[in-house]
Amino acid sequence: MKMPLKYELIKTCKQSGARLGKIHTPHGTIDTPIFMPVGTLATVKTMSPEELKQMEAQIILSNTYHLFLRPGHEIVKEAGGLHTFMNWDRPILTDSGGFQVFSLSEMRKITEEGVEFRSHLNGDRLFISPEKSIEIQNALGADIIMAFDECPPYPADYEYVKKSLERTTRWAERCIQAHQRKEDQALFGIVQGGMYEDLRKQSAEQLTSFDFLGYAIGGLSVGEPKHLMYEALEYTIPHLPSQKPRYLMGVGSPDALLEGTIRGVDMFDCVLPTRIARNGTTMTSEGRLVIRNAKFEKDFGPLDPNCSCYTCTNYSRAYIRHLLKANEIFGIRLTTYHNLHFLIELMKNVRQAISEDRLLDFKEEFFDQYGLHNN
Ligand code: GUN
Ligand code: ZN
Repeated sequence: MKMPLKYELIKTCKQSGARLGKIHTPHGTIDTPIFMPVGTLATVKTMSPEELKQMEAQIILSNTYHLFLRPGHEIVKEAGGLHTFMNWDRPILTDSGGFQVFSLSEMRKITEEGVEFRSHLNGDRLFISPEKSIEIQNALGADIIMAFDECPPYPADYEYVKKSLERTTRWAERCIQAHQRKEDQALFGIVQGGMYEDLRKQSAEQLTSFDFLGYAIGGLSVGEPKHLMYEALEYTIPHLPSQKPRYLMGVGSPDALLEGTIRGVDMFDCVLPTRIARNGTTMTSEGRLVIRNAKFEKDFGPLDPNCSCYTCTNYSRAYIRHLLKANEIFGIRLTTYHNLHFLIELMKNVRQAISEDRLLDFKEEFFDQYGLHNN
């Protein structure tokens, strides 16, 4: 049978253990480790596909939960699928809804069958099961689709997390059964287990017995201290197969991208760069900058003197500050462009450092400049 996805491990960094690889999909090849911009509603907020290509975004993420609520997966399918609908011809990954339904919807009720909830838009009573999530994702047509899982909150007690992960395993098996496009959509499993080492091991072992084409690590970046997230990666990743891609869900701060990569992660996604851009916060080589701040009123230099993006080559801090304060849409477009470019460029530099076996040195230099050593 034709495989919808192939992971190619190019090399492992001798200094850090990080992986350099490629993922081949029906819409092209992506270089890993990679950061995936989030386009929840079939758009990366304020950016056109042309702009995303210009900043060298290789793959974007979209959401089952949101597209199910509107415009509805049937409409996207009728348009010819998500790629055609949104005019993006590079790879797409869709999340299963097994996280958004817990974080966004109201009155959710979890049973063995699935999750009953009320739409956060109009209160409609809706239901998503593993089968429904896969049906929606088959209609959307992304290159990589995710199993329907439960992401427990943090903190959560041992017994609850254990029951939840065991249900997530049963749901994962149902997702495989329901999947109708095995020739052109790769289904990934999602490891859960909270902050409990033996539960992460149990989840990873159960899911890897199903032979998914990739494995995500879910249930992290849910409010736990960062050191616990890094420890969870350390005791989870050894239970995942080295010949398949590993995806850390919902993580996108520069320090976590580096720490995750060093622990063996290949893929990341997060709303962080686009979300903070819309309230006027930017990530620069010298750390975070709140551009609305009065001290930038007459600062006619670029957002980031070390950045070569469209925003930084053409516009000043003072101008961007003015636009943001005047609520001009162009202001958030400029900050969004820069923040996404910043993380895409960071991961490009990370890949270069891995190829030269110097990722730990790179991390030290980056943290020094970004100001991460003094907090
Ligand atoms: N996004 C961030 N964390 C998670 C998770 O645990 N599960 C899913 N499906 N999506 C996520
Ligand atoms: Zn820039």
